[in-house]
Amino acid sequence: MPELMVNIDHVATIRQARGTYFPDPVYAAGIAEMAGASGIIIHLREDRRHIKDRDLRILREVVRTKLNLEMAATDEMVKIAKEVVPDMITLVPEKREELTTEGGLDAVSLSRRLKKVVEQVGEKGIKVSLFIDPEERQVMAAKKIGADMIEIHTGSYSDALQEKARTQEYKKILEAAKKGKELGLGVNAGHGLHYHNVKPIASIPEIDELSIGHSIIARAVFVGLDRAIRDMLELIK
Ligand code: PXP
Repeated sequence: MPELMVNIDHVATIRQARGTYFPDPVYAAGIAEMAGASGIIIHLREDRRHIKDRDLRILREVVRTKLNLEMAATDEMVKIAKEVVPDMITLVPEKREELTTEGGLDAVSLSRRLKKVVEQVGEKGIKVSLFIDPEERQVMAAKKIGADMIEIHTGSYSDALQEKARTQEYKKILEAAKKGKELGLGVNAGHGLHYHNVKPIASIPEIDELSIGHSIIARAVFVGLDRAIRDMLELIK
């Protein structure tokens, strides 16, 4: 059974809607850990639209499970990661205008830059995951770059409206997960997963961790964060 890593960015999104100090993502992390999450994920974006530097610093102090920092492969972010030392980072592509991360990293064409980042944060013992589309060439590139893990982008699977398209996307994820494991990489998956599409992904034996945010925080509005996380864990089991 894969472990559940909860992305709490959208707790900060609600806070920023009013530019005030609540709800505090730091509280969310505590509740998530108590509900059974195996780790906490935050994305510190260049524009700081939700998670702030202050959140990252405090979360580094209080998170007792595992802190995964999603970030772009920029000099600014590498410097922050080396100062704060999260347990792992996930490198993601980042565009200023996007609503959320769109598409995986092109590990093939960015290999030199990504390899450098892996080496830089590796000096601090930080593990690196690359958020990539489910394509064999991307998995192979991740291995070549020296990443510890991959996170397979499940967005196309999640967005597929027709059964046929969803099955096709599912097969790609399955193959990429197998390839990743074959190469000795840790294999995570995420993006767009929710209460009605998580089961087939959770049943892929090669997947170590699921990264889920929006659907959990959305359900938490109605049933509370503790219950929303426990419901998700039940489905993953
Ligand atoms: N993985 C990555 C790399 C992401 O950027 C995000 C969104 O922040 C997620 C997983 C979680 O996606 P969602 O919020 O759709 O569950």
